[in-house]
Amino acid sequence: MKGVVLAGGLGTRLRPLTSITNKHLLPVYDQPMIFYPIQKLAEAGIKDVMLVTGGDSAGDFLRLLGDGSEFGLNTLNYAYQVNEGGIAEAIGLTRTFIGGDKFVVILGDNILEDSLASIIASFKDQKEGARILLKTVDNPSDYGVAELDGTRVISIEEKPKRPKSSYAVIGVYMYDSFVFEVIDSLEPSARGELEVTDINNAYLNLNKLHAQIICGWWADSGCSIDGLLQAGIMARELRRGDPI
Ligand code: DAU
Repeated sequence: MKGVVLAGGLGTRLRPLTSITNKHLLPVYDQPMIFYPIQKLAEAGIKDVMLVTGGDSAGDFLRLLGDGSEFGLNTLNYAYQVNEGGIAEAIGLTRTFIGGDKFVVILGDNILEDSLASIIASFKDQKEGARILLKTVDNPSDYGVAELDGTRVISIEEKPKRPKSSYAVIGVYMYDSFVFEVIDSLEPSARGELEVTDINNAYLNLNKLHAQIICGWWADSGCSIDGLLQAGIMARELRRGDPI
């Protein structure tokens, strides 16, 4: 299975740290932020990855990551997103790389404790459709939020003012290649982006969305300055092998 890491966007919530660089190049404890999602895919046995980025710092990713062999990858491919048109637009840029395969996407600012190996194995066994991961949070309004009926997702809302649950949809998504047809049908949201939540709702409406709740900790290191600090503290424990 192939992997996709998204590292575009403007990182406005982390200014002035991101005034002259891409947020995914900022340090999280002892590594650049972008190392964590790439390592997470590599540890789960993903060997072929495409990184999507944009803006003025795109060349810095090539200098930092090279051909990906340092991470144990067979190939590290790059795509350039011209405008910050949203997560779904960024995924759409990987169409030729993915071809007809199933694949896993990880947002470049997401850091998680759990291995993705068994989750990806479950997705391999899934005949078709999509798989998303959920985690309870204190501030669901900052995320995509899944409403559950037992273990079944019945709706997903992007950054709702009144969240229907505390289950955030974390930034790891698994799709079959039908996702590119879904992306072609999307309209920009009120904030002018093609939304990943709209992709997931399209699969939900087709009854082809599976969700599972993760146990370990999860950090969205790009959500705020405090989120970045908290991610660094968690990453320190992860890197040292200490329990949180
Ligand atoms: O972290 C999980 C959350 O990520 C989800 O719960 C939300 O449903 C999802 O919309 C997303 O919300 P964020 O507000 O955190 O998204 P952000 O704009 O920070 O972008 C997330 C990643 O996607 C980031 O690492 C950069 C990348 N990205 C973003 C945009 C807007 C791109 O590569 N291109 C883009 O155009």
